[in-house]
Amino acid sequence: MKPLIVANWKCNPTTLKGAKLLFDSVKKEIKNIKNIEVVLCPPFIYLPILTVHRQVMNIKLGAQDCFWKQQGAFTGEISPLMLKDLGCQYVIIGHSERRALGETDEMINKKIRAALKSKLKPILCIDKISQIKKDLKTEIIIAYEPLFAIGTGKPCSIEKAKKMRTSLIRFKTVLYGGSINSENAKDYIKEAGFQGLLVGGASLEPKEFIQIVKNVSRVC
Ligand code: PGA
Repeated sequence: MKPLIVANWKCNPTTLKGAKLLFDSVKKEIKNIKNIEVVLCPPFIYLPILTVHRQVMNIKLGAQDCFWKQQGAFTGEISPLMLKDLGCQYVIIGHSERRALGETDEMINKKIRAALKSKLKPILCIDKISQIKKDLKTEIIIAYEPLFAIGTGKPCSIEKAKKMRTSLIRFKTVLYGGSINSENAKDYIKEAGFQGLLVGGASLEPKEFIQIVKNVSRVC
């Protein structure tokens, strides 16, 4: 299995021009890196245009959230069906920044089911093991993102991350996320045993993000 590197652009950039620029700079540099699966997750609004301009098979697109119903009277929501139709393959669910806005485990559970139903690959973000339902039977991608490491520049130690990876042994694909940069990226794969990374801040700087992908590519 190829390592998975997911870029979570969060609520950035603020213009379509900026989104295209970021996308094109990443695309140009990573089109020849074949041993990594790169997934870019821009804000919803940029997805249609980036899907059309994708043209590089090793860049996939993902959304940062989705609703749990496929359609209907739900003002402001985006459904998994709509994402799938656009060519999205992945969807981040339960990011701590969404949980902080009031998203509950119950809502997250419904979103995961809806995403799976539409054949999207959900990436479930957790900070503690208890956030995973014990009866979760389907194999999904987990992203371990310790709260203290998100956007703080203080990544989790390799020892602690490795322990968490061991606790999540029943999942085949577990990503690490939280203050990833080009210096520390490969250690979470090589030493802590993760199958990929969820990158926030560093994914907005093309040079740094490309370097992360290159550094991981070298150790795989
Ligand atoms: P960060 O964010 O890389 O900026 O710490 C990670 C995330 O929120 O997914």
